[in-house]
Amino acid sequence: MTEIQAPKGVPEYFPPRSQAFLRVREALSAPAEHAGYEYVELPVFEDTALYVRGVGESTDVVSKEMYTFEDRGGRSLSLRPEGTAGVMRLVIEQRLDKGQLPVKLWYAGPFFRAERPQLGRYRQLQQVGIEAIGVDDPALDAEVVALADEAYRRLGLRRYVLHLTSLGCATCRPAYRELLQQFLAGIDLDDATRERATLNPLRVLDDKREEVQRQLVNAPVMVDHLCVECRTHYDDTRSFLRDMGVRWEEAPRLVRGLDYYTRTAFEFTHELLGAQSGIGGGGRYDGLMQSLGGDSLSGIGFGLGTDRTLLACEAEGIELGGAPRVEVFAVAIGDDARHVAARLLTEFRACGVNADMAFGSRGLKGAMKAADRSGAPIVLVIGDDEVAASTIQVKDMATGEQAAVSRAEVVSEVHARLGRLA
Ligand code: HAM
Repeated sequence: MTEIQAPKGVPEYFPPRSQAFLRVREALSAPAEHAGYEYVELPVFEDTALYVRGVGESTDVVSKEMYTFEDRGGRSLSLRPEGTAGVMRLVIEQRLDKGQLPVKLWYAGPFFRAERPQLGRYRQLQQVGIEAIGVDDPALDAEVVALADEAYRRLGLRRYVLHLTSLGCATCRPAYRELLQQFLAGIDLDDATRERATLNPLRVLDDKREEVQRQLVNAPVMVDHLCVECRTHYDDTRSFLRDMGVRWEEAPRLVRGLDYYTRTAFEFTHELLGAQSGIGGGGRYDGLMQSLGGDSLSGIGFGLGTDRTLLACEAEGIELGGAPRVEVFAVAIGDDARHVAARLLTEFRACGVNADMAFGSRGLKGAMKAADRSGAPIVLVIGDDEVAASTIQVKDMATGEQAAVSRAEVVSEVHARLGRLA
């Protein structure tokens, strides 16, 4: 065991699994790219105030799980726990909302939450996210949800469920919140939960304990108390989702862990992932931009968990494909031969053929073993004789046949053979 280890709760991806991780990340962003979302590269740390104001001081994510530190100038910075607040800050600061609306952006990378680590719950977690800002249109809500659904479907996932609800808005939520508080005051809760009921009553609906859930059967739910605008918005969103062929389950008790959500909210869970089943989630956040000092523009987006989506693919036995296969492998014995091989490799790579060679001086036997292990269908053997005669021995690894080909023709010869193999 090495003395220094990776920090607790931080997954790392290395071959061969790292290739599957890459495939998942590409698959999660592809539908959004095809729908006109443009890439943004965001800072990994920001002013702590961005998350306190944007995500919410009372959320677990901000109050308990943030990695906060002081920089050398005494400024309080935090590793980003999520991406939406950072995107809003960028849009405001770079004035991206002054052009055509909606602004449609996507991002990918690591986020940091000091949670208790377990399988599928990490302190460095990876997400692919999208945000659509500036147009309050139910068709856009449906697009965002549908793009997540399409990403999972394209990966071949089947055993996931989309949970959908509306969380209301600044008009209808306060009255509902009061109604829920009244209800919670009348049931038997421990002191900590009672305090939560005062601070954030919606969070109580998410309590996992059976004795609490049993008492919540008749609790009022937001969808029954939406204002007319929110009800229409939710009905229209669902109507567009039907147009887009998306299936969902109504989830009137869905609670998101971040404070900025309004109206449409959703989560995708996977049936085979146990306790950490949320593979992605998102929703609308109509007050966020203004609360961060920007214009009063609406927004909606999602964050899809790359780590958990990979786990879901593995749980369903989905083959994601390995690293690109080496097509030509050069075995060169002797200094001059190694220089010939280096030039040939460059030529092959320049015309798009995946090429590798035996490095180090391990002798013919060791080099042939490396060639075998590479899985390349064609191996080029070059020794002093070949250098002198300007030829290359071309070996077909499937049949074991070997033939001398002139140096000048070897690239086109190999190309032709690979074409026949393909
Ligand atoms: P979130 O639900 O907190 O939303 O995270 C989105 C996804 O990230 C989760 O569904 C899950 O797959 C993954 N995830 C979260 N925490 C962990 C963890 N500790 N370990 C592994 N995976 C995790 C957001 O972050 C919002 N910013 C999404 C959004 C974008 N809403 C609107 N726009």
